[in-house]
Amino acid sequence: MSKTAIIYWSGTGNTEAMASAVLDGAKEVNSETQLFNVSEITADEAAKYDTLILGCPAMGAEVLEEGEFEPFFTELETQLAGKNVALFGSYGWGDGEWMRNWEERVTGANAKLVCDSVIANDAPDDEAIVNCNNLGKTAAA
Ligand SMILES: Cc1cc2nc3c(=O)[nH]c(=O)nc-3n(C[C@H](O)[C@H](O)[C@H](O)COP(=O)(O)O)c2cc1C
Repeated sequence: MSKTAIIYWSGTGNTEAMASAVLDGAKEVNSETQLFNVSEITADEAAKYDTLILGCPAMGAEVLEEGEFEPFFTELETQLAGKNVALFGSYGWGDGEWMRNWEERVTGANAKLVCDSVIANDAPDDEAIVNCNNLGKTAAA
């Protein structure tokens, strides 16, 4: 079992609901998985985990949330090499561009994406919740 953290930002609760479903799945295979709002952890602390499951909605114009999450991720990016990473987040009107760009940053930092990312249009529906559960199970194993 790898030391696993789920770290997310959410403005209106959609990505938070996804994070909760990811945690449910992760706990089935790794009871020590920890969940953090991004305000509760620094990049240096996050870098101590082997597996990082990160959640952030599409904000700005197809970017990560710029006030808290982007600064956190920018700092973490330099410490991601060799880590297992999985990504999730909610979006509104776009086509998932923010997630594709985010995935490229993760692989560009020489981290491994351990499973397909999960994106949900606004509030996660039943299918998205199942996908979040499965993401948690796969990434935290
Ligand atoms: C300031 C702002 C910028 C946004 N920019 C985008 C965007 O570029 N593309 C998109 O698909 N959705 C965009 N959205 C919609 C959010 O991604 C969507 O509402 C999402 O469900 C919010 O997740 P949360 O409830 O976890 O905060 C934006 C929302 C806000 C408030």
